[in-house]
Amino acid sequence: MVDRKMTTAVDPLKCTGCGLCIRVCPDRTLSMVGDRAVVTGERCMHCAHCAAVCPADAVHVAGLDNWAQEFETFRFGGDLWLPPGRFDTTKLVSLMRSRRSCRNFLDTPVDTRSLKDLVKIGITAPSGTNSQKWTFTILPDRPIVLRLGTAIGRFFERLNRIAGNPLLRGGLRLLGRSQLDDYYREHFDSVRDALVEWKTGGIDRLFHGATAAILVGSEPGASCPMEDALLATQNILLGAHSMGLGTCLVGFAVAAMQKNASIKASLDIPPDEPVYSVIALGHPDETYLRQAGRKKPLVRWVN
Ligand SMILES: Cc1cc2nc3c(=O)[nH]c(=O)nc-3n(C[C@H](O)[C@H](O)[C@H](O)COP(=O)(O)O)c2cc1C
Repeated sequence: MVDRKMTTAVDPLKCTGCGLCIRVCPDRTLSMVGDRAVVTGERCMHCAHCAAVCPADAVHVAGLDNWAQEFETFRFGGDLWLPPGRFDTTKLVSLMRSRRSCRNFLDTPVDTRSLKDLVKIGITAPSGTNSQKWTFTILPDRPIVLRLGTAIGRFFERLNRIAGNPLLRGGLRLLGRSQLDDYYREHFDSVRDALVEWKTGGIDRLFHGATAAILVGSEPGASCPMEDALLATQNILLGAHSMGLGTCLVGFAVAAMQKNASIKASLDIPPDEPVYSVIALGHPDETYLRQAGRKKPLVRWVN
């Protein structure tokens, strides 16, 4: 993908001709001309691997900036690269295994600086053809989370009215459309109960009382928009856990926004920008004593 605002350039005075930049380039953008690396290719995904690998600091990718490297809630030890094997795997796995979906949040607001840092943590993820077209819609306080929750609640109220009608379900079944049947079987009762609890007791079974949320989507034009958004999402979940924040993915919110564009519009999200994850965020009001187990997955070895 050609991005006209970005350019990759090699400084011929600094280049030593070691060829490392050519070796790591996924787009064959660079080649050796004489004894120097030169940008000869038309295509460049601006992944900046060439700049990151150059021992002479001779390659520069214009258009990238240091924004993503400047964190507000913790000191980031500069631009050092951690080689493979240099991080304690026990610590990494402990972090991953200790993250839990939080269903009880305190009223305490989330520091907006943490929300900004979480976006920067999110975008350390890989993205298909390095498109980086992910979008982050931040709901920084409880009233805005509640506004979204109310809109989603209305959506599910309507859906339950439709799905609760046996004639409608039967008619659609005859037409070979089983989605309403599936919804009725799997979600109708729990959604009905959650709506009642919300209306009678103010119990928030959707966002669990979260005081902030981050919605991760993608602008049009990404080659793998869903994968990009979900990889960034997982980084945010882990980053939040390390920062002392609880998170919970809200699949019901994603489903409602996919079906009803006006919910997205109410948050100024354009219709052509799908939302792939909704992350409820806040200070957790629950403490686990041990890690949660996992089922054994199907693992297939092919020899
Ligand atoms: C795509 C997706 C959607 C989810 N949606 C919801 C949801 O709407 N409400 C909720 O309470 N938890 C939701 N979860 C959380 C899962 O229930 C949770 O990840 C699972 O039980 C494992 O627990 P853990 O996250 O603590 O490891 C969702 C998780 C994923 C991956």
